[in-house]
Amino acid sequence: MKNGYLSQWARNVSPSPTLAVDSKAKAMKAAGEDVCGFGAGEPDFDTPSFIKEASAKALAEGKTKYAPAAGIPPLREALAERYAALGVLSEPSPGQVVVSPGGKYSCYLAILATCGPGDEVIIPAPYWVSYPEMVKLAGATSRVVFAGDEQGFKVTPAQIEDALTPSTRMLILNSPSNPTGCLYEKAEMEAIVELACRHDFLVMSDEIYEYLLYDGAEHHRPSSFGPEAAERVVTVSGFSKTFSMTGWRLGTLVANPEIAKAVADLQSQTSSNATTFAQYGALEAMLGWDRAMDAVSEMLVHFDRRRLNLLEGLEAIEGVSCQRAQGAFYLFPNISELGLGSEEFSTRLLEERKVAVVSGHAFGADGYVRLSYATSDEVIEKGLSRIQDFCREI
Ligand SMILES: Cc1ncc(COP(=O)(O)O)c(C=O)c1O
Repeated sequence: MKNGYLSQWARNVSPSPTLAVDSKAKAMKAAGEDVCGFGAGEPDFDTPSFIKEASAKALAEGKTKYAPAAGIPPLREALAERYAALGVLSEPSPGQVVVSPGGKYSCYLAILATCGPGDEVIIPAPYWVSYPEMVKLAGATSRVVFAGDEQGFKVTPAQIEDALTPSTRMLILNSPSNPTGCLYEKAEMEAIVELACRHDFLVMSDEIYEYLLYDGAEHHRPSSFGPEAAERVVTVSGFSKTFSMTGWRLGTLVANPEIAKAVADLQSQTSSNATTFAQYGALEAMLGWDRAMDAVSEMLVHFDRRRLNLLEGLEAIEGVSCQRAQGAFYLFPNISELGLGSEEFSTRLLEERKVAVVSGHAFGADGYVRLSYATSDEVIEKGLSRIQDFCREI
């Protein structure tokens, strides 16, 4: 074909590097290689059984048809109630809640609904790999603001202020963060939200790891800092990480009524709705909240033990330093003193020692690598010893 088969969007988009590392590690395992995988961003536990049973029941009852684009009404109501209890958007109505096929899709629609050509989106780095690509797909422009480990991977209000231009439309926040696991303190979050209100830009707050917290850390929701914040903050989350439901594809979004409606309209023309019987499983998690949180607490015991073991093992390696992350299930050690770029480090580690980690380059942070501790104690122990040997030799 004269101009090629692909649109400018398809030509410019990069495939997800985190999914690529994970599939490479899985393919090596399938070929019989003994790979220690720290690449996957997904809990290794099964979905709590009462959630699975509710979805199986819905399936058996024939809840197999299209659902309303924004989600089944009881789930939207339950989510609105939960958000109201958390102080998000001062009592949102169910009409302000959209259930989507995954937190990733919620993020994409939040950006697509509000940003377009000529708009700038501030993305703090290290960032989740998909944000810049989503901004690109919306025709908007990213402005990346870097925060290294010396500042706890958190951007300051002064850095954001420096990045502002008349075209600034949105700031993306992700606390707890993928890839760093770090969280913003209340005062830090408040100062950033105050900037958004003063300079009149939107905030997309991706809170997909909101319940995965350690060391008594607290999660602070930007949309809960008063009515002006409630207007400007689009809160995105989902069921994947909290309830180990990655394959169910269920995300959430809560925003002011105008944005929520636009997101639902975009969804109605693109994915139609999140899978109907999956939504009934999620509904059970919302209605049986205490039970669901008990299941999460159990997972957290394991995550926490693995986090501390991995942290201790990484810290013991000469030339490696690592922040004590208090959220999600990632550690993001600094490997810059070892003398290899993070791409070369992660490629060689996989090829020579059969250990899969994700290069910091993918997250806009060369000199670091991401390790997910959503994996077994045995893999952590074996993987750490291989990483220690590798680092000693390079
Ligand atoms: C920061 C962040 N946001 C959103 C998502 C999307 O999650 P899902 O689409 O599985 O709900 C992920 C998944 O890796 C993530 O790390």
